[in-house]
Amino acid sequence: MKPAQIQLLLVALLCLPALSLFWQIAQVLQGLPNDLGPDPGKAIVIELGQWSLWILLLVFSATPLRQWFGWRSLVVHRRVFGIAVFCYYGLHITAYVVFLLELHFKEIVEDVLQRPYITMGMLSAVLLMPLAWTSNDYSVRRLGRNWKRLHRLIYPAILFVMIHVIWMARSDLLQPLFYLLIVLLCFAGRSQELFRRVKGR
Ligand code: HEM
Repeated sequence: MKPAQIQLLLVALLCLPALSLFWQIAQVLQGLPNDLGPDPGKAIVIELGQWSLWILLLVFSATPLRQWFGWRSLVVHRRVFGIAVFCYYGLHITAYVVFLLELHFKEIVEDVLQRPYITMGMLSAVLLMPLAWTSNDYSVRRLGRNWKRLHRLIYPAILFVMIHVIWMARSDLLQPLFYLLIVLLCFAGRSQELFRRVKGR
């Protein structure tokens, strides 16, 4: 398969969860049976958040996976995954505003100021934004060395996402702690590479 075909296939696959959710929403609106449970709005927010996190973890693990197992495919197609993270967390925030806040925009500010896990979500969303905007050849050329520096924002962003998820988990910590383990392993792999590069200078 040619790289462009693989890219197209990845885009199609990455659209599937969103399409499936849109289908579920259409079912809810028509009063038809669906998989969203008694609180569909909340289920949609959570599912979109989970997809954002899963794809973000894939992006973050691309470098350590190449280092440890020689898997290059994720690194090669990292840009597509990165843009998918941006789209999914954009939908996650939109669903939160539409379904949970019912478009009461004033409450966003209250929520961000009063609920620390929302503050963390907001911080990570803001930090991830420039990464998506500069995921194109033009920005790579224009920013030069600064492009790499800018993309180090992924570290604080992922930390804030983890706090966002762990903070809201309350009692059921198993899943968030599993995510945290993946993040810590990736941090370890990435610092190994950084250490090697600094030593090699
Ligand atoms: C302005 C930014 C954000 C806001 C306002 C926000 C808000 C929310 C809300 C209201 C929930 C549902 C909480 C509940 O159970 O009632 C949630 C869940 C979640 N969010 Fe966010 N979020 C933001 C950014 C992000 C980002 C950037 C990510 C990941 C890249 C993310 C990942 C998640 C995940 C994984 C969950 C589900 C946790 C679970 O399994 O229960 N969020 N978020």
